[in-house]
Amino acid sequence: MSNSDKQKPIGVFDSGIGGLTVVKRLASTLPKENIIYFGDTARVPYGSKSNSTVTEYSIQNSRFLLNKNVKAIIVACNTASSIAIPELRKIFDIPIIGMIEPGSKMALEKSRNKKIGVIGTRATVGNMAYSSEIKRMNKNAIVFEKSCPLFVPIAEEGWIEHRATFEIAEEYLHEFRDLGIDTLVLGCTHYPILAEVIQKVIGSNVMLIDSGVASSELIKSELEKSDLISDAETDGEHEYYVSDIPVKFKEVAELFLGKQIDHVHKVDLEMLTLEN
Ligand code: DGL
Repeated sequence: MSNSDKQKPIGVFDSGIGGLTVVKRLASTLPKENIIYFGDTARVPYGSKSNSTVTEYSIQNSRFLLNKNVKAIIVACNTASSIAIPELRKIFDIPIIGMIEPGSKMALEKSRNKKIGVIGTRATVGNMAYSSEIKRMNKNAIVFEKSCPLFVPIAEEGWIEHRATFEIAEEYLHEFRDLGIDTLVLGCTHYPILAEVIQKVIGSNVMLIDSGVASSELIKSELEKSDLISDAETDGEHEYYVSDIPVKFKEVAELFLGKQIDHVHKVDLEMLTLEN
């Protein structure tokens, strides 16, 4: 691998703001890396779309990132990870890293009783992405999955501690309290934005697994394997692109990341689909 490849940015995409939970973690694990983030805010949510639509969007998003000369793509969306990774790996000849494997692995490592809850989008739960992967890794594990689709628009809205968020979380999660789980996978990258509320509702005896935390070590080791770790001396820069309403994205992103973002670029959806 040439030195210039190492200095290329890492591409990260999600349907919206959720992938920032991965970027936040990545920035502390690999601070020297430049990151190009694409949030497909014009077409969020992905979780209620068909597998073929999510695959098509994921290919378009990856092409967009590839045109920005990225050295690897992080699919910072559990829905797209559960559906599109095999197709993306067929088409693109750079490391493509998803969320399901690291999240499943971390849940099994942290769970003592191997009773694991998973919450995700309708698509991720409908595709049984986590239950299949967790059981593939440990056939004795017991997995309870539930979709929580309203968490995505709530996170996009930035209702991090809103009363309505508590009520919806209670409605979705109360049944988990009687199941004896000791671990709950936040199987959608939007959900860590609401982690405080989810933790309060589920109780402090249940450990939450965040895709960003779970995937950052895998991302690091995949880049190391391909000799793609940046050897820059200064901290990396992060660029943000969205397909709609950059102002709202900027506001919620700054709230969640706890720092100022200089500029959020708007990508023309027509260009995104035409270019591909
Ligand atoms: N953040 C994404 C995920 O991890 C997508 C949520 C959505 O767009 O429905 O699944």
